[in-house]
Amino acid sequence: MNVNILAIESSCDETSASIISNGKILNNIVATQSVHEKYGGVVPELASRAHQQHLIPVVNEAISSSGINKNELSAIAFTKGPGLMGSLMVGVSFAKSFAYALGIPLIAINHMEAHILAHFIDEPKPNFPFICLTVSGGHTQLVLVRDHLDMEVVGETMDDAVGEAFDKTAKLMGLPYPGGPILDKYAKEGNPTAFQFPISDMPGLTFSFSGIKTAVLYFLRDNLKENPKFVEENLADICASIQHTLIKTLMQKLKKAAKQYKIKEIAIAGGVSANSGLRKELENLSNQYGWQVYIPKFEYCTDNAAMIAMAAHYKYQKSEFCGFDVSPEARMKI
Ligand code: KG4
Ligand code: ZN
Repeated sequence: MNVNILAIESSCDETSASIISNGKILNNIVATQSVHEKYGGVVPELASRAHQQHLIPVVNEAISSSGINKNELSAIAFTKGPGLMGSLMVGVSFAKSFAYALGIPLIAINHMEAHILAHFIDEPKPNFPFICLTVSGGHTQLVLVRDHLDMEVVGETMDDAVGEAFDKTAKLMGLPYPGGPILDKYAKEGNPTAFQFPISDMPGLTFSFSGIKTAVLYFLRDNLKENPKFVEENLADICASIQHTLIKTLMQKLKKAAKQYKIKEIAIAGGVSANSGLRKELENLSNQYGWQVYIPKFEYCTDNAAMIAMAAHYKYQKSEFCGFDVSPEARMKI
């Protein structure tokens, strides 16, 4: 019998739906919310409202473009957490009602596990055990992945996420939200060692990114006092230097984790894995240390429902369903 699962992602500011059939992703429909741009960050209340507006059209498109009738669905999967409570509620409530109406089971998915399982959508797939550096707007984690559903967080940030550091430092320079991809674009033209910013020195596999944010704040304030055109005259060099520092911080801990666990299968996941400097540095390290490096396709790096569908595929095989009394968990852990 065919196993067809509809998956829904609504944890932050992308409303997405995807259908997976017998382990193969058929589509990945994403509606991005542009409403947040003018506020310089995601406004939770507006995100929930936009999910309400986008969800049904996105689900309809996923079902109609899959060629599968809704009565042929075997289960409905949704992001249970972590994420914005109001945004999660929209996806969870919809998934419950739809599954209840169709009389099929529900599958609850952890968003951070799903980012990692995005590696199993296409070839080449990492071999177990591997280490995944998950870098997004809300998280920075080193995860030891023993099997599809057997993961352990071995390191994480004690304050800001690296995506947040990209976005906040970009904002300090007057760049629009989300600043990560824009900073990346300017960094390509700049000198990464033009300016020095501190690299945090946390014990073990713990990250910290709040220091660089403060360092950039003071650096800009002092230089703008001397020269009000400092940012526009040096934009590429400042972006390249910030990006260089953030990547160096990430790579220091990744190297440490690889050594500690004696693992050479290395993956990256989450929105920041779209960063061109990070991708290039991983290639360098793979040559230097003999690592096998895995980077997902761009559309599976940022938030999407295909990764939720992939995670649901593995949970379905183990009959890991949840009850209809399930509720979202904003701070859900791996
Ligand atoms: O995984 P994601 O789409 O959403 C969360 O779950 O947070 O990650 C979004 C984050 C944002 O901070 C965004 O600025 C960052 O990923 N990002 C980038 C790049 N593309 C997206 N950061 C640096 N360079 C990029 N090219
Ligand atoms: Zn995410």
